[in-house]
Amino acid sequence: MLWPMCGIVGYVGSQQALGIVIEGLRRMEYRGYDSAGIAVVDRSGADARLAGAKKAGKLANLEKELDVRPLPASTTGLGHTRWATHGGPTDGNAHPHFSDSAGVYTDLTGKVAVIHNGIIENFARLKAELAAENVTFLSETDTEVVAHLLARDFDEAGDGDLGAAMRRVVNRLQGAFTLVAVHADAPDVVVGARRNSPLVIGVGQGEAFLASDVSAFIAHTREAIEMGQDQVAEIFRDGSVRITTFDGEVVEGKRFHVSWDASAAEKGGYDWFMQKEIAEQPQAVADTLLGRVNGQGRLKLDEMRLSEDELRAITKIIVVACGTAYHAGLIAKYAIEHWTRVPVEVELASEFRYRDPILTKDTLVIAISQSGETMDTLMAIRHAREQHSRVLAICNTNGSTIPRESDAVVYTHGGPEIGVASTKAFLTQLTACYLVGLYLAQVRGVKFNDEVAEVLTQLSDSPAAIAETLNRMEPVRKLARSMVGARTVLFLGRHVGYPMALEGALKLKELAYIHAEGFAAGELKHGPIALIEQDLPVVVVVPSPKRPLLHDKIVSNIQEIRARGAKTIVIAEDGDDVVAPYADFLFHVPELPILLQPLVATVPLQVFAAELADALGYDVDQPRNLAKSVTVE
Ligand code: AGP
Repeated sequence: MLWPMCGIVGYVGSQQALGIVIEGLRRMEYRGYDSAGIAVVDRSGADARLAGAKKAGKLANLEKELDVRPLPASTTGLGHTRWATHGGPTDGNAHPHFSDSAGVYTDLTGKVAVIHNGIIENFARLKAELAAENVTFLSETDTEVVAHLLARDFDEAGDGDLGAAMRRVVNRLQGAFTLVAVHADAPDVVVGARRNSPLVIGVGQGEAFLASDVSAFIAHTREAIEMGQDQVAEIFRDGSVRITTFDGEVVEGKRFHVSWDASAAEKGGYDWFMQKEIAEQPQAVADTLLGRVNGQGRLKLDEMRLSEDELRAITKIIVVACGTAYHAGLIAKYAIEHWTRVPVEVELASEFRYRDPILTKDTLVIAISQSGETMDTLMAIRHAREQHSRVLAICNTNGSTIPRESDAVVYTHGGPEIGVASTKAFLTQLTACYLVGLYLAQVRGVKFNDEVAEVLTQLSDSPAAIAETLNRMEPVRKLARSMVGARTVLFLGRHVGYPMALEGALKLKELAYIHAEGFAAGELKHGPIALIEQDLPVVVVVPSPKRPLLHDKIVSNIQEIRARGAKTIVIAEDGDDVVAPYADFLFHVPELPILLQPLVATVPLQVFAAELADALGYDVDQPRNLAKSVTVE
């Protein structure tokens, strides 16, 4: 499992580390961050020591701190930008973490600085072990444990070998992590370790780099080495590199030349951030599912500060959201009502408070928002709280306004979404909604543990199904590029396919500026069928044949529009060839239970819209007139 993105940079060589590290962090700012920090090895005094600084907020805050309290010159250092998932964005939670500190970070007494991306699952036990040795902790983070373990091991070994110390320490850690560390008494080396989280080595002339991705160092070298799972890398001042397994066996890393330019590197080699974020969806869904079940197999959710009694007292749920997040809410309604038998209303946040909604203390308002700053949604939850309703936020941005003003929050761990059009945020919002629905069913006792576990197993299969869907997108791209002349496109669906039709239409509108409209397929005969004319493209999301009532009706709808000249673009489940005779274009997606089908069937809709927009020469990441976060009403 990859862990959502933080930015990591390590450097040793002949240049000033401060400039290299800050520049590297800036190149990774697309990864998003809410705090940043840096540490360097200061050899200006009699004995080497560390100096560092760290600040919540944007990188500019750290740079202002460094203007006020400059660090000593140094050619060995590391830096980190944090995308908080657990624990808010504060100075104290910012990385690096140190093995000790006299207080202000420019007079550190600790000899070790560590930066980390991931989660150390057994940190509590390790922390207790260290506390028993009277180790003083400065933060609540799991990372700091590594700083103390490294310092203790390095001292006990007494051989000055930081790489060996790192190998001994990582063998004691459980979880997913990328670690990079420096030691004041080993100023010519920077050491990194990786398990389930990215770390790449840059090899220069008389210098070397460690980073989350190549964008951090390609201004200095394009020669890179990929690290494998469970490996430790030592980079040295002369530019040499040693890679070993966690057990110390020396291995050759996979060398490669980076041909991307800096901008492409930030996109990981993709043409647009949206393309990258569509590709990240399997990981984003997997990360959103990570760590949600406790040792007894029961669901546990992020900061569900609502008590089980409060949740059992809920008599109505109202979902409020905008745009794509609203579509996630429409899909969530089917799942949550089916699993909990609690009535769910879904409201556009911009309409919600003006309709004088019926709100009581037993109403649970669920606010879905990627940015956590959408003003329409924020105003909606403020209204709900004035009416003493409980508010649960589903959000992708830790510490943003909407979760801060909610009673509880379930964070999606999708990592920063840069493209204005919401993709991985949408799938992770769905995932979080499913988790909330299952949690409510578990707490209210309307589903047994084994029933909840069964759906969780199906959910855990969804990242692979999404990945498989992504592997099938070439024909979708080809079709999209052939449709640059389209003037309008209709989208049809039934059941959860109806909100998917709305989402597919929204994607096409906001990216390709083409008029598009989503309908409930059953509504066609009540008016919209008058729109059907020769060669009009109509995208139809078909439910599983295992739901014959739904499936047969939508097949009839496809026949009706085909008979009137429509060009039918059909998305159906693997093995469903009943629709084949009526589909001008048929795309199959892997089978998932109907309530989870949007996790795969949405992908062709995203790819179709992005590719058509690109074929039309539009900016896929920054469509005209749009902003990533709409902070005005
Ligand atoms: C969808 O692709 C758009 N990005 C937009 O509709 C977005 O979903 C909406 O503005 C809500 O944003 P939020 O999730 O940050 O609240």
